[in-house]
Amino acid sequence: MNIFVTGGAGYIGSATAEALIKAGHSVTVFDSLVTGHRAAIPSGAKFIHASLDDSHALAETLTSAKYDAIMHFAAFIEAGDSMKDPGKFFRNNLINSLQLMEIAVQAGVKKLVLSSTAAVYQSSEEPLTEESPLGPANVYGHTKLMTEQALDWYRSIHGLHFAALRYFNACGALPGRGEAHQPESHLIPRVLQIALGQAESATIFGTDYPTPDGTCIRDYIHIADLISAHLLALDALDKRDTMTYNVGSGNGFSVREVIETARKVTGHAIPAVESPRRPGDSARLIASPKKIISELGWKPTQTNMQEILSSAWEWHKSNPNGYEK
Ligand SMILES: NC(=O)c1ccc[n+]([C@@H]2O[C@H](COP(=O)([O-])OP(=O)(O)OC[C@H]3O[C@@H](n4cnc5c(N)ncnc54)[C@H](O)[C@@H]3O)[C@@H](O)[C@H]2O)c1
Repeated sequence: MNIFVTGGAGYIGSATAEALIKAGHSVTVFDSLVTGHRAAIPSGAKFIHASLDDSHALAETLTSAKYDAIMHFAAFIEAGDSMKDPGKFFRNNLINSLQLMEIAVQAGVKKLVLSSTAAVYQSSEEPLTEESPLGPANVYGHTKLMTEQALDWYRSIHGLHFAALRYFNACGALPGRGEAHQPESHLIPRVLQIALGQAESATIFGTDYPTPDGTCIRDYIHIADLISAHLLALDALDKRDTMTYNVGSGNGFSVREVIETARKVTGHAIPAVESPRRPGDSARLIASPKKIISELGWKPTQTNMQEILSSAWEWHKSNPNGYEK
């Protein structure tokens, strides 16, 4: 297939683009490099350096070739940031996605896979199923939920098939690929930066959550497992016009557990400073991935936090500046 990958210079998009190429697909990466890295774009992908808010570039690219599917990764991802500057997130994650849908339909694209998020749900004591109550705790999650809902209208009105993959916390490294955001606010790369001596301490936002150790609990899903979910969803869109899946491992780890495991893996003290809760954080988000397992035959393969951290640590040691030289 010929696949248009927005955000293909980012952490998850670039790794998925590489896997698509290995699986024999043709890939065009469309990325503004606002948070992505040119060096992360897989060789073998065509690259268009432009932003989704550039309707001319988008229309020109999408009509210059026949695309079978879009994988839409491009977005701003920092939930905490979205509680300080909501407009930035509504513009990039929602309005630019609406523009993408509109132009995609005009260009005759029939399938789209959306990077959605666990942040569409309310915090829950129980593992979250796709039927669990929705209720984003932050603007970021809300922009993704609104994008899912808009896509459903484009499906019913224009026949655009779509899959919404609600990822939990992406993590881990693959040969030559790792997580590098600038500035880094995600817990795992952040603690590894401390172990490398690039930052002094980790901040634990909130120690009074109703969880066993008082810190937030998240489900971590390895990037290899996210990639396999995309490949399966892409195939399934041939026969089905809509699907929404949780993509998580089903295991939860608290902030303290991740830091403690990182101390063991790196042998570094990793100082942590406790601070008040941060607006927009949910206490506990753990997936029930039963639906994608039973319907698509997907399976999480890398769920051990020590192994996840070890592979990420190897990547960070070999690439202390991420994708920058
Ligand atoms: N990382 C996670 O834990 C996680 C969890 C749930 C969902 N997601 C979703 O997965 C997707 C990818 O996340 P990531 O961690 O790879 O983020 P990332 O920041 O590494 O990648 C995002 C990419 O999109 C590009 N981009 C952003 N706005 C753009 C625009 N207007 N035009 C063109 N390119 C643009 C950036 O330059 C970057 O390359 C996002 O949609 C995110 O919301 C991520």
